[in-house]
Amino acid sequence: MYTIGEKEVQAVRKVLMRKKLFRYGVGTECERFEKRYAKFVGAKHVVQTASGTMALTAALVGLGVGPGDEVIVPACTYMATAISVLAAGAIPIIVDIDDTITIDPKAVEAAIGPRTKAVIPVHMWGLPCDMNAIMKIAKKRKLLVAEDACQSVGGAYKGKMLGAIGHAGAFSFNYYKNISAGEGGAFATNSKKAYERGSIMIDCFRFYWDGRDPDLEPFAANGARASEIAGAVLNVQFGRLPGLIKTMRAQKKRILEETADTALAPIRANSLDWECGTHVMYTLPTAAQADAFAKKINGTVASKTGRHVYTEWDPVLGHKGAHHPALDPFKLKENKDCRKKYTKKMCAKSLDILSRTVFFGTAPTLRASAVAALIKKIRKAAREVL
Ligand SMILES: Cc1ncc(COP(=O)(O)O)c(C=O)c1O
Repeated sequence: MYTIGEKEVQAVRKVLMRKKLFRYGVGTECERFEKRYAKFVGAKHVVQTASGTMALTAALVGLGVGPGDEVIVPACTYMATAISVLAAGAIPIIVDIDDTITIDPKAVEAAIGPRTKAVIPVHMWGLPCDMNAIMKIAKKRKLLVAEDACQSVGGAYKGKMLGAIGHAGAFSFNYYKNISAGEGGAFATNSKKAYERGSIMIDCFRFYWDGRDPDLEPFAANGARASEIAGAVLNVQFGRLPGLIKTMRAQKKRILEETADTALAPIRANSLDWECGTHVMYTLPTAAQADAFAKKINGTVASKTGRHVYTEWDPVLGHKGAHHPALDPFKLKENKDCRKKYTKKMCAKSLDILSRTVFFGTAPTLRASAVAALIKKIRKAAREVL
């Protein structure tokens, strides 16, 4: 979240004073947000959820992913990406990222096996994956694509909005995301069936409120309904989004342009003009240089965030796929032919790239003079380290 203020206070106040805090009904805040967001990303259906994790799970279940299936995920993402696969009853297959810090399409293709049903391209740190390559592979190899756009709300890839390029997409509105209601999420899809099945994951009695499709078979699922208060906050935050993205994209471009004559190598971008612009990243020749550079500019080494590298996903690597062994996807007989072997060294290429990559966040509230000071600091650090 980059900015929040009086407008959000007024919107929440209105909801509270109305004393109608339930999300269903005509003209509710959640309904309004879903319609606006669907139009914004260009998807037929958007369902607001309580979290990005549940949005991802709903997207996968919506697409029909379940026991017996493998789903390809990148080695660098928040653990929720892999957890959502397990929550759907399937098995995550972890593959390398490339020098774009997003999933390597070649690694995706190489990892496809007889049980592989889907891939989750994760648009990490506001950076779009190579969606043309991924969609091409998906078409050729009959894979479903569920985009994890949790960290890329408002971003696009070559003009197409992230989260609405694949068969389904998920977004997070938690505190750290581009727009926020403190917690929250949404999933998007053009498929009516995925929308209906995903909706049941979010609310088991959804059809009671919305009317029931005779073709839809209800099933048991936990709830993750969005709150009307979150809807109200998001409607205000949503209005701020295009301006925030525009400012951050411009700030990132300025920093890249004004450090282009240093020895620093920015990461390869899949779609620089359309990405969120939330993070500037450089990959250095060695991990030691990355450590030194990060220290000098108050940046972060990508391998050291403590939560975005597969080696840190203990429940996944340790095969603790559920709270009870009988529900654990790693132990289900339906998954006996799925590949489940993980080692800490399995994606050595990703570990190498991440240990040499330094990032820092752009900030829409930063004045031009502060950006100039930051650029000066980066240039000085580059001279000292490289
Ligand atoms: C890439 C990614 N996927 C999924 C999630 C899960 O979102 P949430 O925290 O809203 O459940 C996050 C949240 O940080 C994320 O960064």
